Amino acid sequence: MKHLLKLGDLTPAELLHILDVADEWKRLHRAGQDPQDLKGKSIALIFGKNSTRTRTSFEVGIYQMGGLGTYLNAGTELQIARGEPIQDTARVLGRYYDAIVYRTFKQSDLEALAAWSGVPVISGMTDYAHPLQVLADLMTVRAHKGRLAGLKAGFIGDGYNMANSLITGCLAVGMEVTAACPKGYRPAADVLQRAAGAGGRFTLTEDPAAAAAGADVLFTDVWASMGLEREAENRRRDFAGYQISAPLLALAAPGCLVQHPLPAHRGEEITNEAMEAHAAEIFEEAENRLHVEKAVLSVLLAGR
Ligand code: CP
Repeated sequence: MKHLLKLGDLTPAELLHILDVADEWKRLHRAGQDPQDLKGKSIALIFGKNSTRTRTSFEVGIYQMGGLGTYLNAGTELQIARGEPIQDTARVLGRYYDAIVYRTFKQSDLEALAAWSGVPVISGMTDYAHPLQVLADLMTVRAHKGRLAGLKAGFIGDGYNMANSLITGCLAVGMEVTAACPKGYRPAADVLQRAAGAGGRFTLTEDPAAAAAGADVLFTDVWASMGLEREAENRRRDFAGYQISAPLLALAAPGCLVQHPLPAHRGEEITNEAMEAHAAEIFEEAENRLHVEKAVLSVLLAGR
């Protein structure tokens, strides 16, 4: 594993190894024994979109492992914002930093950074994928259920970056996945094509109840992701009913978990009642971003 650009690049063994390292790093952090895998190493954190969790968890996690994280705002500070080509930025930062985390819009820009920088590049989220979030989700689900293979996952909402990564990640670890997305908001074609080869473990539907039925874990995401705010009004109409709520949860398996990447829009993709009833596992999911990111850095930079 040279980079983490999308979950489809990982073998199931590589994905599960990251979760194993993350579990161990969480245990060691609780014991006050963070591994110093990043001692003397510097990580660039380039953000072209807003962030609360991804930015802060990387900054804190890098500090805990003895390294330096530099936050760089691609929208207002870096020369990228004034037109410097990504391949030039990549070749400069790759000479200063040991790894680069990049949150941007186009997956092709992330891939260009990886191709030109000469150092490991980690997706901080693109319009196509959010691999770190799904690694944290799987870590959380496994901690609660004791396994991943054979579990039933339901996704309700936009077939966007979270859906793409959830379908890919959940199928890779042997879960069954039913994704309920409105007409016109289907997941990416390549994700659906790969999912079709998962031995009948994937179903795409427009019916949220079908995704909730018998689910061991229900996932959702906001109706209008970053960069799509202009579509918010139309999306409120198109996504009506694609909401995790008490009636939908009543269709799920007993003890069904709810996972939300946050920030949540209560009253849209999740009710306030469902959000608060499942706050424990949702905020544990947010915490696990920290442990997963430390694990990914350890795998990429310290050969763990
Ligand atoms: N889930 C997530 O990526 O959160 P931020 O946008 O706050 O980083």
